[in-house]
Amino acid sequence: IGRFGTQGPLKGRHALVTSGPTHEPIDPVRYIANRSSGKQGHAIAAALLQAGARVTLVSGPTHEPAPAGVTLVPIETAAEMMAACQAALPADVAVCAAAVADWRVATPSGQKIKKGAGGPPALALAENPDILATLSAVGPNRPALVVGFAAETEDVVAHAQAKRARKGCDWILANDVSPGTQAFGGDSNILHLITAEAASTWPRLSKPDIGTRLAGAIAAHFNKD
Ligand code: CTP
Ligand code: CA
Repeated sequence: IGRFGTQGPLKGRHALVTSGPTHEPIDPVRYIANRSSGKQGHAIAAALLQAGARVTLVSGPTHEPAPAGVTLVPIETAAEMMAACQAALPADVAVCAAAVADWRVATPSGQKIKKGAGGPPALALAENPDILATLSAVGPNRPALVVGFAAETEDVVAHAQAKRARKGCDWILANDVSPGTQAFGGDSNILHLITAEAASTWPRLSKPDIGTRLAGAIAAHFNKD
């Protein structure tokens, strides 16, 4: 009960979740990536499913198994993640937990780049599409609730409030990634939930418990009237 989107407070809702890193190719055998494990995004997908939603999980390469019952759309690049998210719409709620690469190599080489007399290659970068901002843009397909994350090293709440406004999303979950806080690769986090009205600080929670708490807040939002 509560699995496969059949029962629970989010029954009948479609949730879109992004997770993991993106891989941006340099050539056929090399890429730019980051250290995202996908643990938080996958845990959110599992919790939304548990709360009764139908869940589409658009994920970059991770070692995390997709929770049984979610629809996994595996992607590698930010451009592929953007296209997969747009193809998954309409959705009632979108949670962008992916660590999307901010930049891609502007012109990946079609062949393996060889060492040579020319010295190391210079990689020209291009900025990737902002998936959270795109999903947040007003339009007929905008999810009713769009949630993003913000990793900050100082003035966490103030920077996250500014990021929420800049991206146009409804909620931001902000965490402090300053040295010593063990956020990256760690299994628990202290998060601040920033909405248009308020900022509240959650206690230190495991990633699965953060998923459950977020799913609860989302369910309360949709069932408030
Ligand atoms: N995000 C996204 N697409 C991008 C970059 C970020 O969807 N191309 C989302 C992330 O999934 C996260 C939120 O935006 O939910 C914030 O990511 P973050 O890297 O903190 O924000 P940026 O706008 O990239 O700012 P910064 O310069 O601080 O990296
Ligand atoms: Ca970024």
